Amino acid sequence: MLDFPPNSTISDVIRHRRTIENFQPECPPRDVILRAIELARWAPNHKHTEPWRFHLLGDQTVREIARLNTELVREAKGDTAAAAKQQRWSSVPGWLVLTCEVTDDPIRSEEDYAACCCAAQNLALALWAEGIGMKWSTGAVTRTDEFARLLGLEPGERRIVGLFWYGYPASIPEARRKEVEDIINERP
Ligand SMILES: Cc1cc2nc3c(=O)[nH]c(=O)nc-3n(C[C@H](O)[C@H](O)[C@H](O)COP(=O)(O)O)c2cc1C
Repeated sequence: MLDFPPNSTISDVIRHRRTIENFQPECPPRDVILRAIELARWAPNHKHTEPWRFHLLGDQTVREIARLNTELVREAKGDTAAAAKQQRWSSVPGWLVLTCEVTDDPIRSEEDYAACCCAAQNLALALWAEGIGMKWSTGAVTRTDEFARLLGLEPGERRIVGLFWYGYPASIPEARRKEVEDIINERP
């Protein structure tokens, strides 16, 4: 196990959370994931629509998503890239998808999606505080009709916010951010 998480204050969890690409094989227990989802739903949410749904994926659905993605990669980049992708996706221990309610009201749609993104970050931080890393992906496969169907949805029935891989990190990448003064616009 890595020496992780490094500390337990909220500042440490926010600062040290990283998108994790490489996981140890063991899948984190379901109760830890449920605990993180319980925290995720405390995200701010205008009109309290609670537009989020967390789809917990079992082995069969994961296999089908990995196969679908492999086929997309084969079409775009050929057999070698497809085989590498298949191997990589087969090694990811934990999978969930976050979807957002769809509405005809454009303002509510935007607010609901924003609330789901807040929930996604809550999820990432809650998991990180338990020693679990996550990767948020919006890759091409998540935008296919077949992906929605594998979640038991009609295409377009809900907005796919992201596919989230999770597990215990095998390594933690370095990250950089701009200087604070470069992201502030101070006005009189
Ligand atoms: C909305 C959203 C979509 C993302 N989609 C992808 C993706 O499709 N593929 C990917 O490799 N990373 C994806 N990421 C992860 C970002 O690349 C990652 O957060 C970024 O590199 C910053 O690294 P950090 O999370 O460790 O700070 C996504 C992140 C967000 C917030």
